[in-house]
Amino acid sequence: MKGLILAGGHGTRLRPLTFTGNKHMIPIANQPILLYGLRHLKEAGIREIAIILGPIQEGIQEAIGDGSIFGLHVEYIVQGEPKGLAHAVLCARSFLADDPFVMYLGDNLLQQGVRPFVERYENSHPDAVIGATPVAEPSHYGVVELDGDRIVSIEEKPKHPKSDLALIGVYLFTPAIHDIIAKLRPSRRGELEITEAIWQFHESGANIAVQRVDGWWKDTGRPEDLLEANEKVLRSLPPGAFERAGTIHASATVRGSVGLGLGAHVDAGATVEGPTVLGQRVGIEGSARIGPSVALGDGVQVRDAWIERSIILEGAQIEGPVHLVDSIVGRHVTLRGGAPGGSPVSLIVGDAARIQL
Ligand code: DAU
Repeated sequence: MKGLILAGGHGTRLRPLTFTGNKHMIPIANQPILLYGLRHLKEAGIREIAIILGPIQEGIQEAIGDGSIFGLHVEYIVQGEPKGLAHAVLCARSFLADDPFVMYLGDNLLQQGVRPFVERYENSHPDAVIGATPVAEPSHYGVVELDGDRIVSIEEKPKHPKSDLALIGVYLFTPAIHDIIAKLRPSRRGELEITEAIWQFHESGANIAVQRVDGWWKDTGRPEDLLEANEKVLRSLPPGAFERAGTIHASATVRGSVGLGLGAHVDAGATVEGPTVLGQRVGIEGSARIGPSVALGDGVQVRDAWIERSIILEGAQIEGPVHLVDSIVGRHVTLRGGAPGGSPVSLIVGDAARIQL
């Protein structure tokens, strides 16, 4: 079994923001999104993985390399123009050879991982396994309509969805899918759609198993999705994941699951409430109040500010008085609060900005 992670696509920067690097490297609970997919594939016993890269690639190969630090063999395939999810499979044709493979959309986060897909395949040998879960706005996704276990229709982002079951961004295919993709025509939006390939595969008589997803699933296409994913991941991490390699002053208050990286410090009078992770060398000073559901990247410094449910990227400096909620603050941003007692603010700020409230 091989793995294919898609990290190309149109919006490979988190538009319209100016976060440098590929959006799949934005950290969730201080880990790049892409690493969750990599880890899930590894947990399912998959060692040979290719990552599809688009026009913006920065940060990916630097962090993952040849995969050996994760005990994996990782190759890179440049798709260049993002011509669709099935086009990405076409680009990976020689890597995939005649092996079954799990395709993982690099901006998806899935609590249960991909092992249930692989087990389903190993137990009953269907021609493909697709994942589905009920969602509130199915027209934003691929939608599968079922009659019991039987597939009735599969459509990509239908205006009038026939069910509320969204296709999640994890698929298992046997190599017979390649013949279907080779004959696929571009859709109205000019892409080779994997959803259409799955439908045609089904129509050709293939047995496609639909795996209901337990636990949460998140497509992190928008900033608010990143914040929700950050909260969900922090809330579902086991207590052992919150390492305490930093120092907490005797008169600081630290409650719940709080991880501190090497050299991080929480000073006298500051408060940190879990679930929250502080990267290496993070400084929490003065009357600062952090958490719950906050991830502070390496080297972040916070003094006298209050931060809840936010992602602060490495090297940012935040000085109060300011009450940040539902915010994403880019790398090396300098943010200075205004007058004391102001109402909470929600900011989405790209890298290196300087802000005086
Ligand atoms: O997240 C689940 C949804 O993902 C499914 O419900 C849809 O059926 C499926 O088409 C897909 O829809 P999206 O609109 O979310 O796809 P998006 O264009 O955001 O691309 C998903 C990932 O694949 C993203 O990490 C970028 C990457 N990608 C995308 C394209 C179009 C590539 O690597 N190459 C591409 O050509």
